[in-house]
Amino acid sequence: MHRSNRVAIVTGASRGLGDVIARVLARRGYDLVVAARNRKPLQDAAASLAERGSTVVAVDGDITDASVRARLVDAARGLGGLDVLVNNASELGGIGPLMQFDVQRFGRVFPVNAGAPVALVQLAVPLLAERRGLIVNITSDAAQAAYPGWGPYGASKAALELLTRTLALELRDRGVSAVIVDPGDMRTRMHQEAFPLDDISDRPLPEVTVPFWNWLFDQTPAQVSGERFAAQAGDARWLQPA
Ligand SMILES: NC(=O)c1ccc[n+]([C@@H]2O[C@H](COP(=O)([O-])OP(=O)(O)OC[C@H]3O[C@@H](n4cnc5c(N)ncnc54)[C@H](OP(=O)(O)O)[C@@H]3O)[C@@H](O)[C@H]2O)c1
Repeated sequence: MHRSNRVAIVTGASRGLGDVIARVLARRGYDLVVAARNRKPLQDAAASLAERGSTVVAVDGDITDASVRARLVDAARGLGGLDVLVNNASELGGIGPLMQFDVQRFGRVFPVNAGAPVALVQLAVPLLAERRGLIVNITSDAAQAAYPGWGPYGASKAALELLTRTLALELRDRGVSAVIVDPGDMRTRMHQEAFPLDDISDRPLPEVTVPFWNWLFDQTPAQVSGERFAAQAGDARWLQPA
């Protein structure tokens, strides 16, 4: 049977890590659906991706909006199907001691960082199942370590990790796989927002994760499902020898 194009959705693809992942996928020949809230930077990123020959659809809007998620999956369907879904869009929700945290803000951090990825998975699974596809959910070391000031963000990422491992088990019989990826510290807007007074020029650019993405997208999804990867880990399988 003729196998058509490969298609990926990447949320938060207008800059930072999401833009890097989208560019890796474009280089590998994927057509793309890319998402972020602000239209102009998203359209600029999409235009740059399309220069590599991929068909790229840009969907602007907040990932917590059900109509935005529906547009993302509809766009993938319009491109022919879905092989990879990358839930990368995320918000810090403010860094500071829990004693000063307005707990109402959990109502934003958890829906963006954990709820929206699961809701997008729910919509995308019928397409992913047709192609034995892969879900990639982006986490942080703050999901595993208790860093003062990082409680709400870390808790939302810890929730995403458990949800991802659960999805990997629940979706196995449908042929859909799910992995967790901690990209490590990177010089991005989110990282600068977390450390507003710091010079973060010693942190690597998100391009440092490219060897990992190329390794991951070479794998058979079912063989990595349920795993957690650290994209910058020094002893990792995907790092090239110096
Ligand atoms: N940078 C680090 O050191 C680091 C470390 C560990 C984990 N991470 C994780 O890596 C991922 C990417 O982070 P980054 O550092 O690349 O961040 P970034 O440069 O700030 O990029 C975030 C992207 O997500 C989009 N976005 C944010 N909130 C959104 C929403 N509610 N709906 C739709 N799109 C939204 C942004 O565009 P708009 O603002 O236009 O919406 C942008 O495209 C995140 O999951 C983050 O938690 C980062």
